[in-house]
Amino acid sequence: MISSANLVESLLKEACLLTGCCWSVSLTCRGETCQLGENYRLTKARESQLRQFLKEKNNLAWLFGVFSAGRMRARALPAAESNLRLYAFPCADAQTVLLAASSAELPTTQQRIWRLVSLARLGGEQTARLQQAVLALEETQQELQARIAAQREAESRLVQAAKLAAVGEMAAGVAHELNNPLTSVVGFTELSLDALPPDSPVRGDLDLVLREAQRARSVVRRLLDFARQGETLRVRADLNEIVEDVVMLTKHFLQTSGVRLDVRLGQELPWGQFDRNQIKQVLINLVNNAMYAMPEGGSLILETSRCERYARSWLQLQVRDTGVGIPVEHLERIFEPFFTTRGEKGGTGLGLSVTYGIVTDHGGMIEVESQPGKGSTFTVWLPLEAQA
Ligand SMILES: Nc1ncnc2c1ncn2[C@@H]1O[C@H](COP(=O)(O)OP(=O)(O)O)[C@@H](O)[C@H]1O
Ligand SMILES: [Mg+2]
Repeated sequence: MISSANLVESLLKEACLLTGCCWSVSLTCRGETCQLGENYRLTKARESQLRQFLKEKNNLAWLFGVFSAGRMRARALPAAESNLRLYAFPCADAQTVLLAASSAELPTTQQRIWRLVSLARLGGEQTARLQQAVLALEETQQELQARIAAQREAESRLVQAAKLAAVGEMAAGVAHELNNPLTSVVGFTELSLDALPPDSPVRGDLDLVLREAQRARSVVRRLLDFARQGETLRVRADLNEIVEDVVMLTKHFLQTSGVRLDVRLGQELPWGQFDRNQIKQVLINLVNNAMYAMPEGGSLILETSRCERYARSWLQLQVRDTGVGIPVEHLERIFEPFFTTRGEKGGTGLGLSVTYGIVTDHGGMIEVESQPGKGSTFTVWLPLEAQA
């Protein structure tokens, strides 16, 4: 590898030969002193003359003028010897100047050659600085992109939350309106059925009315659940205990449907702070959905752990299935009330919206990842017990 000093010297040499100059040097100026750098064909005698020249206040001022002139223009300087003309070419680093000595005036084409040489002179230090600058720029750019991505994510989360809150409010309003009349329908139908003779031809119809009204009322109840806020019972609670309870409840159902269950309870989990029944409800909803997604069997993994997110510790609950998965276009709609792909099979589209309502009401988060045909993972983050 050629050192930068060698490179400069060979540049000086080449330029001297091309332009017919008798000698040339590179000068670096720091503060008030100029130092001779690489030189070509500068004899000892001429060198001491040049040093002398550089020491004289006026000449130094001239040179400083050249150094600080941003414009890359050659300047003929007063010569140290009457038969020599000095030309100064500032380099790109604004600290170094190339001096070329010629016995005759340099034509502009030859000055141009020197200007090119002075532009090309980037010492090792400058190259390193340039590289550092480029690296720093790249880092800044990456950081900026990460920030933009985080910002976008936060925005879409906000939009999603606002949308669900608006829909939830509306749904709650409708649910309140429907709750009372439905209660009347159910009550009076029951009374009418009681009063009917057992062989009445309208009994079958009234039975249907009762069943449908009860079904409607249970939808309304769940809607109210979804919209309910603030009346939760937050206590110190054990997440693993909840998983064990839900496993007990659903084990039989799981076994008969050919689903392998794998429960991975985190060891020594910290206490959480939540309403046990509600979190149980969350897990039941997620397990139910996973089961429906695996009509031909598969495997269901329930996992609890402690994890860090957004610079905080959380309890994490994961429900992973190897079911049908969720198409991308459904992913951002599944938490909306009434969004269901199982309408004809009795789906109401309320399970996940209730789940979302409960989790966010607890100050937690829920997210889903899914690959159609491979399965889905629902992850819930719940806050730890508040430290006193
Ligand atoms: N584990 C899962 N695998 C595949 N799809 C799912 C899963 N969980 C939820 N979904 C999709 O999200 C929709 C909404 O779920 P949910 O709110 O529980 O309503 P429902 O179960 O009544 O349809 C489901 O209809 C289904 O399309
Ligand atoms: Mg469901």
